[in-house]
Order: sequence, then C-alpha cells, then structure tokens
Amino acid sequence: MSLPGLISFPYGIYPHMNFEELQSLEDWFYAYCDSFSMTEAEDQLNIALKQVHTQEVCLNAVRIAQDLKMDPQSSALAEAPALFHDVGRFPQYKQYKTFDDSISTNHAALGTRVLRENKTLEKLAKQDQKIIVRSVALHNVFSLPANLDDETRLFAELVRDADKLDILRVFIEYFEQDEKSRAGAVALGLSNTPGYSHDIMSCLKKGKMALKAMLRNQNDFKLLQLTWIYDLNFVSSFRMLVERNLIARLSEKLPGTDEVAQAVGLVCGYVDKKLQGR
Ligand SMILES: [Fe+2]
Repeated sequence: MSLPGLISFPYGIYPHMNFEELQSLEDWFYAYCDSFSMTEAEDQLNIALKQVHTQEVCLNAVRIAQDLKMDPQSSALAEAPALFHDVGRFPQYKQYKTFDDSISTNHAALGTRVLRENKTLEKLAKQDQKIIVRSVALHNVFSLPANLDDETRLFAELVRDADKLDILRVFIEYFEQDEKSRAGAVALGLSNTPGYSHDIMSCLKKGKMALKAMLRNQNDFKLLQLTWIYDLNFVSSFRMLVERNLIARLSEKLPGTDEVAQAVGLVCGYVDKKLQGR
C-alpha cells in the first residue's frame, strides 16, 4: 500500500454510498446492539465495551479517510466496515460468553453471516456490498490475501488499522482500570503471570507480527499488540499512535527489562521512520 500523498488510487470511479445510506446502516447497527443487552453486570460491561469500540473504530476510520483526502462517498464507504467489523461479537458473546475466537467461533465470519441473514446491506450498490463484506471478513486475518483488488485492499487495510488502534486503547485502559470496572473478556482469559514468551519478543525485535497462537500470558498479549504496529498501513495511523501515546502507555505495563526497553526502542524508531514517509 502506498502512503498518503503518494496514492494514485482513482477514488470515486463509481458512485459510492451516500450519507443517508450510512445513517440507515448506523440505525440498524445500534438497534441490533440493543437487542443484546444483558442482565448480568459483567456481561453488560463486555457488550458495552464492543459498542464503544465500534464507535471509536468508526472515528479512526473517518480520520484515516480524511487524511487520505477521500471524497465524502468513499469516506462513508470506509466507515461502513468499521461499523460492522465486530458485529459478530454480539452473537458470539451471547452464545459462548467469550471474545476468544479460538475457543468459540471466528467472529468476522459470523459477522458476515449476520449481515447476510439480516439483509442489512441489500439496498447498497453491489460493489459497495462486496467491499464491506470482504473488509469485515478480512479484518482479523493475519495478513491480507495477495490477490485482492486494489479497491477492496484499500478499504480492508483501512478498517484493520482503525481496529488495531482502538484495540490498543481498549487493552491499555483495561490495565489502567480498577479490577471491578474491567470488562473481563478483554484479556481473553490469559493469566497475569510474570515473564513473557521469547518467540513473541523475537518477532517484536525482527519487526514481524506475532501470532495469537503464541500467547501464554498477559505480557505476551502486550508484546503481541506492539508487533501489530508493524502491520499498520497509513501515516495517519502512526500519527494517532503518537498523539495518544499508545506505545509508552502499553510498554510501561511490561516487565522493566533491558530487552523490553530495547525492543520498544526499535518499535519507536520504526514509527519515526513511517512518520517521515520512509
Ligand atoms: Fe474484530
């Protein structure tokens, strides 16, 4: 993916969705969320967390779209996958009481099923429907398939960045809250033991994303989220990382070893380079 300022992608080659269409998708989404409100306080915290996460991912997506100087129709289309990327989380939590896909179901695939079964997108142009469904389906894959067309790739990359940035916020805030206020499903049931996985640390040092299958404890999850920074696509995303001080806030929750400090220094250096357009 090229960086902003260098993008030659021909936005608006067909009429993308309009503001009214986006508004009606939002109305549907929030009514759908409300249908999952739960009586247990812990369950309600987890459901509300995903609703707020969706709002924040939408804001991140709009910010990236604006920085890319997308026209209003393309920007509305960029917001739709953000709105629906975690729609599968609601039925997933209701059925399994977890956000851990590995012990329940792939929430992205479930999300596309929700959209299909509810005919949520049927009034949109076919091309817009395809982009939204593909972007939702691909928002949580380790890497995007090589054969994606340029337009789908752009919108899929956009929602992946918007999502990662807000997962970092959610995870950081989880550790900054007192235990009673925490939405327990955030930490995926990982234990708060000392130390961390050397495989994940090794990925961080090499500038590679780590796999969720490598997670053993909460420190691993913190390191894994730092490796996501190597998968960000847009200068706008790096700016948000810095503005929100996400790297420092997350890394100060890791063990204070020289190895951690060195690896975090590498990540910061990478972010600096990206901000300079290198
Ligand atoms: Fe997700």
